[in-house]
Amino acid sequence: MSKKILITGGAGFIGSHVVRLFLNKYPEYQIVNLDKLTYAGNLENLKDVEKSPNYSFVKGDIVDASFINKLFAEQRFDGIIHLAAESHVDRSITNPLAFVETNVIGTLNLLNAAKEQWKGNMDGKLFYHISTDEVYGSLGEEGFFLETTAYDPRSPYSASKASSDHFVRAYHHTYGLPTVVSNCSNNYGPNQFPEKLIPLCIHNIKNGKPLPIYGDGKYTRDWLWVKDHAAAIELIYHKGLIGETYNIGGHNEWKNIDLVHLLCDQTDKALGRPQGTSRALITFVKDRPGHDKRYAIDATKIKKELGFEPSITFEQGLSETIDWYLINTDWLDNITSGAYAEYYAQQYKNR
Ligand code: NAD
Ligand code: DAU
Repeated sequence: MSKKILITGGAGFIGSHVVRLFLNKYPEYQIVNLDKLTYAGNLENLKDVEKSPNYSFVKGDIVDASFINKLFAEQRFDGIIHLAAESHVDRSITNPLAFVETNVIGTLNLLNAAKEQWKGNMDGKLFYHISTDEVYGSLGEEGFFLETTAYDPRSPYSASKASSDHFVRAYHHTYGLPTVVSNCSNNYGPNQFPEKLIPLCIHNIKNGKPLPIYGDGKYTRDWLWVKDHAAAIELIYHKGLIGETYNIGGHNEWKNIDLVHLLCDQTDKALGRPQGTSRALITFVKDRPGHDKRYAIDATKIKKELGFEPSITFEQGLSETIDWYLINTDWLDNITSGAYAEYYAQQYKNR
């Protein structure tokens, strides 16, 4: 059966892996990638699949309601996988409004367009909203986030994602829109913009620059290989139950400082440098305001109901990630040559 699926944010980190997976696995589907190509969107991420006959790219802004309505009037989508977002916590602290615009208003525009397009017959349709574990707030030393954990967002980024999650569920309950939501932990892997911890450190190690660790470095995250997240998204798109929420995680908690130690050692090995070279670059800097202490996902539901489990160990995934960044020097150089330098100088100047 042919299906037309709109993937938003497909030129970004996770979105590009989702687009590739769907294009390769479902040649009978039409995949439309809608992306504004912000600083985080990069069509280079999809170079290897951009000529696929079942792929098309549309440049556009989900905040622009008339553009979105026109797109939906021209193309009839069976499904929407919504990843487009402003995604970096530090940027949300500097400019919260941009996060409200894209993450909240942009999501509402898509919900309204889907509701209008599918009115009268919602059979076989799905609006799949990709969200984050950050909506649940911060954990102490013990415990895990369940699908039933009360929302407690604490950064402008997580508040905007929480708001969009609430709107998606409200459209399901109020208008019967067929929706599903997943909340995932920290992703890592190829194509991640080097503002996030892992690619930022690899980039700095390569260039012999300090590795900025916020606060005491004891903050904990649960890391998942990005291709495993894409696999979970594909599974939920096809097998997830309408109206449900699925938490996705890696069973893989690391304190930032321990993670950066491992990253330093693996990168030294990959570069043939003496062990300890990169650890010497570690620099503790001023903390992120409102920094969430610990995230950890209880992924029992998706394992039991849909059979999802991460496919590789963190050591394997990290080693593949390091190799990818060391080989794809053009990708990294193109990204870090322009506005990134300004962002970096601004973000880290008083730390
Ligand atoms: P990213 O920042 O790498 O990519 C976001 C993409 O959205 C970019 O291609 C960008 O150009 C596009 N975009 C931004 N604003 C837009 C707009 N107004 N209109 C159209 N396109 C726009 O983000 P990511 O890390 O790939 O995250 C993707 C999604 O997954 C986000 O919704 C994020 O909240 C969620 N998520 C991310 C993680 C993670 O660890 N990165 C974990 C859980 C959930
Ligand atoms: O949990 C899922 C979330 O993970 C996603 O929803 C977000 O889109 C994604 O950006 C990520 O958020 P984090 O804030 O956890 O990721 P980040 O890579 O920015 O930071 C990871 C940890 O490392 C966090 O505790 C802050 C710390 N850190 C980060 C940077 C950029 C540092 O110590 N130094 C840094 O320079």
